[in-house]
Amino acid sequence: MEQFIIKGGTPLKGEVTIGGAKNAALGILAAAIMTDDTVHIDNLPDVRDINVMLEAISEIGAEVNRIDRHTVEITASGIRDVSVDDDFIRRIRASYYFIGALLGKYKDAKVPLPGGCNIGSRPIDQHLKGFKALGADVKIARGAVVARAERLTAAHIYFDVVSVGATINVMMAATLAEGRTILENAAKEPHIVDVANFLNSMGASIKGAGTDTIRIDGVKKLHGTEYSIIPDQIEAGTFMCMAAATRGNLLIKNVIPKHLESITAKLIEMGNEVEEYDEAVRVIGAKVQRHTDIKTLPYPGFPTDMQPQMAVTLSLAEGTSMVTESIFENRFKYVDELARMGGNIKVEGNVAVIDGIESFSGATVSAPDLRAGAALVIAGLAAQGFTTVDEIGYIQRGYECFEEKIKGCGGTIEKVDSDKAAAKFKLKVG
Ligand code: EPZ
Repeated sequence: MEQFIIKGGTPLKGEVTIGGAKNAALGILAAAIMTDDTVHIDNLPDVRDINVMLEAISEIGAEVNRIDRHTVEITASGIRDVSVDDDFIRRIRASYYFIGALLGKYKDAKVPLPGGCNIGSRPIDQHLKGFKALGADVKIARGAVVARAERLTAAHIYFDVVSVGATINVMMAATLAEGRTILENAAKEPHIVDVANFLNSMGASIKGAGTDTIRIDGVKKLHGTEYSIIPDQIEAGTFMCMAAATRGNLLIKNVIPKHLESITAKLIEMGNEVEEYDEAVRVIGAKVQRHTDIKTLPYPGFPTDMQPQMAVTLSLAEGTSMVTESIFENRFKYVDELARMGGNIKVEGNVAVIDGIESFSGATVSAPDLRAGAALVIAGLAAQGFTTVDEIGYIQRGYECFEEKIKGCGGTIEKVDSDKAAAKFKLKVG
């Protein structure tokens, strides 16, 4: 079983380049099958969830030509099956985007329901509400969503919950519905805008993405396009917290600073320096950092996907901080792991009360999910001594070359697959 072995105590320095946004790419890859023309996509993150999505696209009959790690061409004219294989759904949740894409293009889709997830139940009722409003007959049969429609007609849809997935999924289906669909209470994340821009580059007519009201004028067909994915704001934020937690000085390149505003604001509140450039930010971690409070909210609020990483950073600040997780019901599973490293966090419902500590002490911990795993790596980099992080498969779902990028900033980390290799690394770095 692969693990990360980390020797903490070295402030991260130098620079790191951020890759394409995983959560934009997952929606864009699904949307790519909505035309029979060839679609060329670059700045794709080479992470497991993306690679599984590409396998699923190829499995239903589309031609997938991986030009290089970060570039792919998809030609979906050969799709022969609107039913997505269960195996892919089990491995990634975002395969639910196939419902919107296949329903939009073929008026027919059969996609197994995504399983639960470590961070909460994650229902898809708002997705199904949107498809029904567009005129689809939607059933749950033998664990799969079966959605069919003679034709899709525009609707005025109000989402009861601000949902990234439902906004993207219903927006996709509505691009090929007849008439003007209005989505109210839509999510506003940068990756929603990226998927909308991608669809518009294919000939869709979408206005208002990035606001809470999106207007989609249905078109008959979509055509091929060339597109580059936006930088990943969560990967960028993860390295920002890494720099602050290790008291480093790190230039984080290939970012859109505007997408990082809530993270920047909080790190500055804590006493860190954050310098913004056109396509980069520099974080200089203050020796002594102050506590602050965080409440996760839909964009432009503080992102839930940055909650564990910020909690680790706050653990190393003076005073008591409160972190309120208002999006998912089970996103504090890393707290028990941090306690093994000396963390002092008490969870009451959806609030974590964090008492600052001098430093973490290295220990063996286990990643409970993707972002919590990244947070434990940050804790290890800031800790005294060695930390072993197990279950790093979660981390590899969303972070490309995570350990190489950290090494590139002076961090002491190694991916190992045996106790012998771990011992050898510890001997080597001493
Ligand atoms: C996306 O998940 C992201 N995943 C998540 O990132 C991210 O945490 C989340 O958005 C919030 O930003 C991808 O984009 C692949 P939601 P999604 O629908 O779309 C409730 C990561 O670490 N809800 O915005 O599934 C839901 O339970 C992952 O990269 C309903 O009630 O999230 C949650 O409480 C983790 N009914 C809230 O809305 C629905 O039909 C927000 O969920 C849909 C959602």
